[in-house]
This record gives sequence, structure tokens and C-alpha cells, in this order.
Amino acid sequence: MSQVKNIVVIPGDGIGTEIISATRRVVDEAFSQVSVGANWIEKRAGGAAIDVDGVPLPQDTIDAAKKADAVLLGAVGGPKWDKVDPAIRPEKAILGLRKELGLFCNLRPIKIFPSMRAYSPLKAELVDKVDFVIVRELTGGIYFGQRQEASGSGEQEAAWDKEEYARYEVERIMQIAVETAKKRRGQVTSVDKANVLASSRLWRKIAEETAQKNADVNFDYLYVDNAAQQMVVKPGQFDVLVTTNLFGDILSDEGAVISGSIGLLPSASIGQGTALYEPIHGSAPDIMGQGIANPLGTILSAAMMCRYSLDLPQVADKIEAAVERTLEEGYRTGDIYTEGMKRVGTDQMADVVISYL
Ligand code: IPM
Ligand code: MN
Repeated sequence: MSQVKNIVVIPGDGIGTEIISATRRVVDEAFSQVSVGANWIEKRAGGAAIDVDGVPLPQDTIDAAKKADAVLLGAVGGPKWDKVDPAIRPEKAILGLRKELGLFCNLRPIKIFPSMRAYSPLKAELVDKVDFVIVRELTGGIYFGQRQEASGSGEQEAAWDKEEYARYEVERIMQIAVETAKKRRGQVTSVDKANVLASSRLWRKIAEETAQKNADVNFDYLYVDNAAQQMVVKPGQFDVLVTTNLFGDILSDEGAVISGSIGLLPSASIGQGTALYEPIHGSAPDIMGQGIANPLGTILSAAMMCRYSLDLPQVADKIEAAVERTLEEGYRTGDIYTEGMKRVGTDQMADVVISYL
């Protein structure tokens, strides 16, 4: 082996275990073709960690992640832990990793594979042109603001969450939006709710300042309600869409479904520390353990990992091309299966991808 990459791998909960083991096989094979070794360091997080360690994000997982070249995560959460104390919910694992690693930016590419056009709920002529990236702020806003769980009683029982953004948080995410746009079609759409929210008015002010300083990038500004609508009316107009943590969470699920299946979409969380890669979909407890989950979102996340963290762009290209070919040849897991296609399970899907590497 000419080099070895240290990858912390967190299967998590639900289908996480299955999609991660399928993805590891794909990565191992792709690496071996270029004489690179994968040193997989398996760690617990989410419900799996609550059960064993009593907390969703053990310190040992955080320490290992900080030292690694990249973190690959399956999914966390499930009905088993729905009633646990909000302070130790499985989701805290992802939020904690983002915060601990300083991953203030989430990149979610929304792109449609030609062979998947028919699976989009949108009309084919709209879907054809879909190719954009959601740049979601990931360690600020209402997700990390102060909150008060329900207190008081009767009609006065109340709870609140605070949306707050500081200048530096908006400036750094705008910078990533600009850099991303420069490598693409040079268009940034900043999404906020500046007609109502003070935090959004600061967001917009800084977006406008960023536009002033980057004359080679074209900025426009949408309120989030309008952006949600434009995404289904004319999704081809977007190139880079930059938005807050909460709005980005919502819009990226909408974007994912436009592309045919949420099971196909990867994501990268980047920032100060080790970057984290995970599929956009959740732990799908309803189908866990059956070997039918779609591993492609995770496999494509691993491709992003190769490109952004491991300095192996040629491996990323290879994995992405193999996934595209797998879909073109008609291999489908249950979530994307239609009449006449070749139905396969999680492991078989990975085998097909491997065969096309
Ligand atoms: C996502 C997920 C997470 C989020 C949850 C699991 C905390 O929905 O990555 O989009 O809301 O950020
Ligand atoms: Mn989400």
C-alpha cells in the first residue's frame, strides 16, 4: 500500500449498519485498484451508543473523529429512542459531531441521474435541468440557539427556541457559497425570511455585502416560502442556494425528492475539523435488518469523501461513474423499483457497483 486513509466509520442505527457495510466494500475495492488502503475505525453514535454508553455521542467517538482523515456515517435514530430525555436523543450525535468538529457548512448536491428522471414527482421537462447545490449553514441558528423545553401549566405551558446568527457565521458560509459558485455557473441564491425575522435581515445584509465584493458571482435573494415554491416550479434556475440551518434542512429534503429518491443523495459537512459524510436519508427503521435498503446515497457520500477529504478525486469519479452505470443498467432497490427493472437488495447493489468500478 502506498498510502493508508484513516476513516472513522459510524454505522449508527436502523439501516445504517447495512448501508455502511455495503459502502465499505465498494470503497475497499476502489482503493485497492489505486493501491490505497482504508483503515476503518468503527465507532458508536446515536441510539447504538445510548444503549451501550448511555450517551448518543461518546467522547471516544469524538476523539477518534478529530484524529481521522474523514468520518463516514450511516444514520442515527429510531422509534426505540423517541421517548428518551431530549438532552440525549440520538440526533444529538449528529448535531454534536457537527459542533465538535466545527462543521459549519453542509453541501447537498441536488442532481438527477438521467436514468432516474421518471422517478421524480416533477414533470420531465422541469427535471432535466436540475443541477444545484444547497449550501446549508450547519452549526448556528435555531438548531444551536438557546431553548426552553415546555414549562408552566395549563394554557400558559410554553416552550421556545432562539434563532440567532452572528456576522462571522454568515460571512464564512457566504464565502463557501461564493467559492462553490465560482467552480460552477457563478450564481448564488441566498434564502432567508428577511421580511419577518431580524436574524434574516442580518443574513441578507451580509449576503449583499458578499455580492458587492464578488462581482464575478451573480447573487439573488429569495424569501424561503418563495424558494420552496420556485424549487418545484422552476428548479433549473438554481446553481448554488445558500441558507440557514433550519431552512436548509427543509429545502434539502424537498430538493432530494425532486431528484427521484432521497435514497440517492449524498452530503458532505465541512468546516474547521475532520469532515463528515453521510447520506441525506434517515435510519428507516421500518425496513432495517431486511437487506433491502438503498446503499447508493452512502456510496455517493463516500465518493464525496474521496474528493474533498482524501485527495482521491480519481476514485471519486470512478465510484460515481459506477453508480451511474448501475442505475442505467436498471438495478433498483425497493425504494426506486418499477416494473421491468432488476430488483436487488443492499449487498447485491454494492456488488453491481463493484463490478463496474
Ligand atoms: C439532516 C437531518 C438532521 C438535521 C437531524 C437528524 C438532526 O435531518 O441532516 O438533515 O436536522 O440536520
Ligand atoms: Mn434533514
